Amino acid sequence: MNHIQLKNISKIYNANSTQAQSAMALLAEGMDSVAVKEQTGYSVGLYDINLNIKAGELHCIMGLSGSGKSTLIRHLNRLIDPTSGEIWVNTTVNTKTHAKDNTQANTAPVDESSSNAINILELNDKQLQHYRQQTVSMVFQHFGLVPHMTVIQNVAYGLRVRKMSVSERHEIARYWLNEVGLTNLEHSYPDELSGGMQQRVGLARALATDNPILLMDEAFSALDPLIRAQLQDQLLELQERLNKTIVFITHDIDEAIKVGQRISILNGGRLVQTGTPSDLRHNPADDYVEQFMRAKA
Ligand SMILES: Nc1ncnc2c1ncn2[C@@H]1O[C@H](COP(=O)(O)OP(=O)(O)OP(=O)(O)O)[C@@H](O)[C@H]1O
Ligand SMILES: [Mg+2]
Repeated sequence: MNHIQLKNISKIYNANSTQAQSAMALLAEGMDSVAVKEQTGYSVGLYDINLNIKAGELHCIMGLSGSGKSTLIRHLNRLIDPTSGEIWVNTTVNTKTHAKDNTQANTAPVDESSSNAINILELNDKQLQHYRQQTVSMVFQHFGLVPHMTVIQNVAYGLRVRKMSVSERHEIARYWLNEVGLTNLEHSYPDELSGGMQQRVGLARALATDNPILLMDEAFSALDPLIRAQLQDQLLELQERLNKTIVFITHDIDEAIKVGQRISILNGGRLVQTGTPSDLRHNPADDYVEQFMRAKA
């Protein structure tokens, strides 16, 4: 069952619609994004992306710097709006857990007949706010913690908008801090923690909202290799139990192979291939994919 569907998503930066159409016409003829930029002056973020992300999968988006990874993920919580295309999200996918009992919700089969996808580009401001509070959470590359708040306040932050008492919020925050392997640090401030610990707080904060979609843009890229490997293991272990839909951006093919059930490869704003690590290895769509996979036999 698809959780997120991108249909013909294109993003041309800093261009009005006529200008964007002229850039897209060149892209449709097969011109690459560098040449389009040279000829028109407009940056191509994405061109004609069609991508289905399944409910409960950990989907990696991989590609070199400037290939459009951040542009893509930012569409999913509408930090960026596309030049054209549609983004459908199934809001009936229920991966919600409860802080005290996380065994039930995730093992229940998703009822396909109740599937009800919305085009998130059509949401009004209030609906968008609700969507961001209830459906998508984000983990940032540079952690994005609030420096003057303690660890537990940071984790509970996303719950403040819900009508919950402080003690209830903190109980949930404490549960998730424990889940990511951070106990007894709830009264520390972010700058008292190592990078790896800060990102565990970032992860706990995103999980505490219990939203079904988790967006991670280079979330582990700023960490040392050993700590990074530990966080990858932790994410995989959590995913086993929580069954979230995770969109995980990385420019590191080793990381993509380790954590991704499927990997989508971007090049110059185009989606080159989506597949399991084995698909990409055995049937690379082009030289770009082949080069990434060559050393990974
Ligand atoms: N705000 C912006 N204005 C103009 N062009 C932009 C903007 N943001 C991104 N771009 C361009 O869009 C293209 C894709 O950028 P994006 O940041 O999505 O790539 P990325 O794959 O995330 O790269 P990195 O690995 O460096 O983070 C690049 O050519 C970039 O210069
Ligand atoms: Mg990026």
